[in-house]
Amino acid sequence: MMKVIYPGSFDPITYGHIDIIKRCSLKFDKTIIAVLNNQNKKSLFNVEERIEMINQVTKEIDNIEVVSFTGLLTEFARKIDCSTIIRGLRAVSDYEYELQMALINKKAYPDIETLFMVASSDVSFLSSSIVKEIASYGGDIKCFVPKVVEDALNNKYGRRV
Ligand code: PNS
Repeated sequence: MMKVIYPGSFDPITYGHIDIIKRCSLKFDKTIIAVLNNQNKKSLFNVEERIEMINQVTKEIDNIEVVSFTGLLTEFARKIDCSTIIRGLRAVSDYEYELQMALINKKAYPDIETLFMVASSDVSFLSSSIVKEIASYGGDIKCFVPKVVEDALNNKYGRRV
């Protein structure tokens, strides 16, 4: 059975993440969506909110599991006995950081492999940060996130939904 981890902050989940999750679900037997719960990294949504949104927008996909993790990704990967990490690549600008992370993770856990999935062109410009910024100014984010996420963002930024 081919089991992979798709880790991230998912603060919040966007159509960019959903693109990768759907494609993973078609290629791998099981995809563990691992949501980073890091007290030092300030997030807009707490980990429970992020997990709840992911569960809601992926409920039609049955071979995935959404969990949170704290600390090092490699430790978590060992704990769940999964040595394949999936990361989405949107543009060349992602590559430097992703390469660094992949190599550092390999040093800590030599059996681990990081596989990069190229983001689909219609979502390759998307990031949670840019969506949050647009939402914070009251901009329209319908094309970037599902309705539950749009409502949650508008709520956070004090707009009535
Ligand atoms: O969605 P993101 O913010 O790009 O995801 C980054 C994430 C969560 C995959 C990365 O920050 C991570 O793995 N953090 C856990 C701590 C860790 O293992 N750090 C060492 C690798 S740089």
